Amino acid sequence: MPAGDGSSSSAGADRTLAPEYPPIAALRRDFIWGVSTSSFQIEGATREDGRGPSIWDTRCQRGEIANHDTGDVACDHYHRYPDDVALMQRLGIQAYRFSVAWPRVLPQGRGAPNEPGLAFYDRLIDAILAAGIEPWLCLYHWDLPQALDDLGGWANRDSAKWFADYVALVAARYGDRVKRFATFNEPSIFTLFGQATGGGAGVDTLHRSIHHVNLAHGAAVDAVRARVPGSLIGAIHNYQPCLPSTAADAQAARICETYWNRAFPDPQCLGTYPELMRAAMAPHMQAGDLERIHRPIDWFGLNHYGATYVKAQANARLGWDFGEKPPGLALTPIGWPIDPQAFRDTLLTVARDYALPVYVLENGFGGFDKPDSTGTVVDNDRIAFLRAYIGGMNEAASAGADIRGYFVWSLLDNFEWESGYGVRFGLTYVDYPTLKRTPKSSFHWYRDLIKAARS
Ligand code: FCB
Repeated sequence: MPAGDGSSSSAGADRTLAPEYPPIAALRRDFIWGVSTSSFQIEGATREDGRGPSIWDTRCQRGEIANHDTGDVACDHYHRYPDDVALMQRLGIQAYRFSVAWPRVLPQGRGAPNEPGLAFYDRLIDAILAAGIEPWLCLYHWDLPQALDDLGGWANRDSAKWFADYVALVAARYGDRVKRFATFNEPSIFTLFGQATGGGAGVDTLHRSIHHVNLAHGAAVDAVRARVPGSLIGAIHNYQPCLPSTAADAQAARICETYWNRAFPDPQCLGTYPELMRAAMAPHMQAGDLERIHRPIDWFGLNHYGATYVKAQANARLGWDFGEKPPGLALTPIGWPIDPQAFRDTLLTVARDYALPVYVLENGFGGFDKPDSTGTVVDNDRIAFLRAYIGGMNEAASAGADIRGYFVWSLLDNFEWESGYGVRFGLTYVDYPTLKRTPKSSFHWYRDLIKAARS
């Protein structure tokens, strides 16, 4: 058991909640309920107070986002964070996961820090703490400073050093108040899908980027440890079954599974790259690199939505592409599988393979919510999804997985990357023209669940 996160707490076997809630009897008494967001998706104020551009500002300017949406205003969280912290307090969460925008605190990615940007996160963290909520700070949720992308981004080996210097700045500044640090959010997603390097990168660049992000993770762990006594550090991985669409796609699914699920947790937690990608990684590695990556961490962060279906695709970069989903599979309105068994199985797999306490740091339901004629947003399908998934998590806990917390994605509807504002994941509805926040039915349901679970 890693130091500092090893407290034991017996499961709440005596807890039976009303039928509208999932079973939670196998979850620990000190289980943490939370919500997650990320900087680019909610902050807005992209040109304010000295913030530098990120690769996502560039993508928006290039018109690569649905409906030509941009992050310029987003949820205006930069100005409205007190309202959002008040929402968190109403929800009764114990912890809030957010990310720091690297280009807000270091506009060029390195060099001179931007004091007004640093001061924003002081205000935010102070407000979160004043609300009795624990801040969980994610150091990288995809908004790489554009100036560093211009130097090759994660494909440049120096990126590990740039990241470590940025992390040192953040840790020194906030470490008196923040103890929970995540190095990266979903490194497999931003490397595999071209956001590490400006997109469209070849296979060699992909492997280099994977390795440098892993080196950056290890350097970041050291940078936080050296500055924050009592810190509890982890990384956040998107991990799920990668299943062949047909029998002929089995090898493609194995390749996908290796890169999507294991390319980061294996070296970070076990000190080795998965067999299937070892030869491809070799040219990019230097003596001592695996030790630099494999630094002791305290917890495993899991983001999970559903299984991925894979087909063989000879001309694709790694020989696989997204395949057909099986007929009859239940889907969310945006077409993602609803599969709480996959969630349960994934929790058991990561708890077994990495032997760390697991926190579910994202799980949620994407749809096209709309207020009804009374202005109420009824999202019973989201409630059903959360109920089923939390039930799946309880099953994994009862089968022995050491699960310590669950964070819904997301507090607010927000900028959903390439899909822009059309896709909504929030427990709170955001009316973008007015920026008014309206808690949805799922907000009230989650609030009542947390209350019941903690009583
Ligand atoms: C995850 C991302 C998060 C959000 C959800 C829906 O992959 O980490 O920012 O977009 O998906």
